[in-house]
Amino acid sequence: MDQVTLISGNGNLDLSRRIAENLGLGLCDVDLGRFSDGEIRVSINENIRGKDVFIIQPTLPPADNLMELLILIDACHRASANRITAVIPYYGYARQDRKDKPRVPISAKLVANLIETAGAHRVLALELHAAQIQGFFDIQVDNLFAGPVFAEYISGKSFRNFTVVSPDVGGIKMGRAFAKRFDANLAIVDKRRTAADSSDVMNVIGEVEDCDIVILDDIISTAGTITKAAKALKEAGAGRIIAMATHPVFSGEALERLEKSVIEEIVVSNSIPFEDGKRCSKVTVLDVAPLLGKAIRRIHTEESISKLFE
Ligand code: R5P
Repeated sequence: MDQVTLISGNGNLDLSRRIAENLGLGLCDVDLGRFSDGEIRVSINENIRGKDVFIIQPTLPPADNLMELLILIDACHRASANRITAVIPYYGYARQDRKDKPRVPISAKLVANLIETAGAHRVLALELHAAQIQGFFDIQVDNLFAGPVFAEYISGKSFRNFTVVSPDVGGIKMGRAFAKRFDANLAIVDKRRTAADSSDVMNVIGEVEDCDIVILDDIISTAGTITKAAKALKEAGAGRIIAMATHPVFSGEALERLEKSVIEEIVVSNSIPFEDGKRCSKVTVLDVAPLLGKAIRRIHTEESISKLFE
């Protein structure tokens, strides 16, 4: 591991420090400052020539996080790093991943182009919003799943008629894999988007009456999807409801909505920093640093990543 250099952007310094700790490494000395007009200024203060560099930066809003990642990649490239891996615990701009109506962008592809053009050789992501985003890159992409971290957490809880619910059809694959681990049933909420940031529940598909539920999603943004799904499930006779989502985007009134909702606990990962415990007392944050650390080690030593999920 002495050839590995870990560099962190400002997107989630706490997670970067945890990853470094898991790997028994320090973070590279980098000046990440600003010019007086607000532009990002980067200077790497250690020799990284020939090193296997991992740049850890989630690309959550503001877009400065993405910009920091791109500029850090460029700096490493010009400093003659041997290989540059963009470690992106949360891949922002992922939700526009196809042209589903006229005159819309595919921002997930645009971001992939930017990362590649900046000079990254590989990407290590966590729970990409859609698996096909891997194909938007011509460089290697490893897409990790938070499923095992969530599974370990709930394996200590006791459930009656345990049922995993996907809050939309897009999440069925993720829900099915999770249900399989526990030999649980799977149900689906049929959601229709009414606008970019709002949706309505049309139907609950599957048996949920007298069942304890885990609703599983990749992102909670406005929390509209998950709170409406939970309400529909309760109306259909569900028992306890726990929500699990990898990326706590928590935008707008999300935390107030979750606090008032019928959901008893909201379990998320630390892919995005969460410091708002006062606004919602139901949030539990699980650490994905060990998972990301193991993946970084395996990429460096050229071992299988899929082994992490067996
Ligand atoms: C949708 O495809 C995603 O999986 C999430 O369900 C969605 O992004 C959540 O958004 P919100 O919390 O704003 O309803």
